[in-house]
Amino acid sequence: MRPEPCSPPTDSPRGLFAQFDKPSGRLGAFVGHLMAWKSGPRSRFVLSMLELAAHHRVLEIGFGPGVDLARVAGRVPEGGVAGIDHSAIMLAQARTRLRRQGHLERADLRLGSADLLPFADDAFDRVFSINSVQFWPDLDAVAHEISRVLKPGGLAAIAMQPMSRGAVADDARRFAQRIQQALARAGLRKLRVSERELRPVLCCCVVGEG
Ligand SMILES: C[S@@+](CC[C@H](N)C(=O)[O-])C[C@H]1O[C@@H](n2cnc3c(N)ncnc32)[C@H](O)[C@@H]1O
Repeated sequence: MRPEPCSPPTDSPRGLFAQFDKPSGRLGAFVGHLMAWKSGPRSRFVLSMLELAAHHRVLEIGFGPGVDLARVAGRVPEGGVAGIDHSAIMLAQARTRLRRQGHLERADLRLGSADLLPFADDAFDRVFSINSVQFWPDLDAVAHEISRVLKPGGLAAIAMQPMSRGAVADDARRFAQRIQQALARAGLRKLRVSERELRPVLCCCVVGEG
């Protein structure tokens, strides 16, 4: 039987895969640097879905080493960015990256879990997440939190590109359908799935309005 799209490849060390879920220690720091070399095309695709404006306040869930938060911070000079990640080592790497790029003062980075966002209702114009959703144990709980913190009329973009060995485009599509259904149950409107052919496999981004 083929593995689930987000399960570890059967011939990969489980310890390494777990580091993408919650990086920790020296191996986690190394994995954070690997993530920072991430796919530029995937980021550009997802960030293009956000229709950013200079004044926007933007939340990223599962920011990893903070590469996309830094990109977004540069595009919202009159607004700001916030993020949540449950890995202390990712928080440290993201803070360092944002400080070096001069964005830390407009950034509110928190250590915590996606299903309990430490932010006020209607706090954000945009919420996004890239390849973190496959690790969320309770997708409905996170979808409700996204709906809560997103302003009415704001946009959420949740992207997923399955990275396990043997994953195919339909794995991405099936996962996107689950995301779309969870966001619909949480009350987001005008939901749609955008696709982008990327290597090694299709990336799907579910976009919805608060
Ligand atoms: C594969 S990395 C992706 C990082 C970044 N978004 C990127 O595209 O490079 C997944 C990230 O999501 C975080 N994460 C996973 N589950 C989480 C949860 N339940 N709450 C908060 N962060 C979570 C991990 O710590 C990790 O930094």
